[in-house]
Amino acid sequence: MDVHDTRQQIFANKLKVLRRNFSTTGTTSFLPIYLQTLMQGEKLSFNLYVKVSAAEQQEVTFLPFLEGEEVLDPSWVELLERLGIDRFYFQRQDLDRVIAYLNNHLLLFDLQQPNLPREKILVLVEHLNFSLYRAFNSHHLGRHIQLAQGQVERLVQVLQRHVTSLKMVWELLYRNYSLYNHSVNVCLLGTALMLFMHKSRFESLNLGLACLFHDLGMSRIPEDLLNRRDVLSAAELETIKSHPQVGFEMLRECDALAPEILQLVLEHHETADGSGYPQGLPLSRQHPWTRIIRLVDAYDGLTGHRPGRQPLSPFAALKSLQSQTGLTGPTFDPRTLRNFIRFLALP
Ligand SMILES: [Fe+2]
Ligand SMILES: [Fe+2]
Repeated sequence: MDVHDTRQQIFANKLKVLRRNFSTTGTTSFLPIYLQTLMQGEKLSFNLYVKVSAAEQQEVTFLPFLEGEEVLDPSWVELLERLGIDRFYFQRQDLDRVIAYLNNHLLLFDLQQPNLPREKILVLVEHLNFSLYRAFNSHHLGRHIQLAQGQVERLVQVLQRHVTSLKMVWELLYRNYSLYNHSVNVCLLGTALMLFMHKSRFESLNLGLACLFHDLGMSRIPEDLLNRRDVLSAAELETIKSHPQVGFEMLRECDALAPEILQLVLEHHETADGSGYPQGLPLSRQHPWTRIIRLVDAYDGLTGHRPGRQPLSPFAALKSLQSQTGLTGPTFDPRTLRNFIRFLALP
């Protein structure tokens, strides 16, 4: 089946297009990209695929929808949206091309200065997601951190400039789980919550960077351990719990971020009652924003789709966070939680 046939079959609703992507790994050869982040009426510089499953068999395949140099016809986008198809896939080997393409899209936004920043934030978020993917899988972490820094800066700038965009954050969170999607979600929630609490752009940027790299250490934990659904042994649990320390050391080694950001990465599993890890610090000895990362990280963990577990609604997730207690008191700082609830309820 060639590209033309695939398109015709999709538009006629004859192909079963799959929407969910439960990949936790960095090893898949196809990566999902949101339809809304593509430039309509413009040429592509990479091939786009759809993920389909043949009705009679369970097998999943990727079929080419658009080949590099073809123009994305706006009428196709309309048809796809009507069919509820909101994402395509591209080959991992085209990652650099895709990042450059999204960069061009952002430049276009800068020229147009949109009043409605939703699309721009969406492209920024997707750009950040792929940049993170590249950073986590690269030997040149320091260089990629610097690039990510520029993007988080842009994100904070847009969020701060358009007050209405703060509440948009809730719609823009990724629903599927991957280490990258989760990190970007935590970054979005963290920076938006900081701005909602009237913190400065600089403080929000630093918090955002800590959020983005908080689980970097996870990229060094064996994948089979992370995907395991049965009960883990004490030693295996300890390995997973080493990720804040591992991430901290990786960041320290490449010397690209401020010490305060590194401290936040190290402390992101410390809790308000002092029963967290790796140091079991009481709240008074933690960085004042550790409680913010801890909260938005836990919230995204509960509300995102994870293999083998149903996601909670925002309300149910907040209830769960509110009810969690350790030996000496609540796990999550009540004041930060109250601010987070007010932020969620933003009219
Ligand atoms: Fe973590
Ligand atoms: Fe996390």
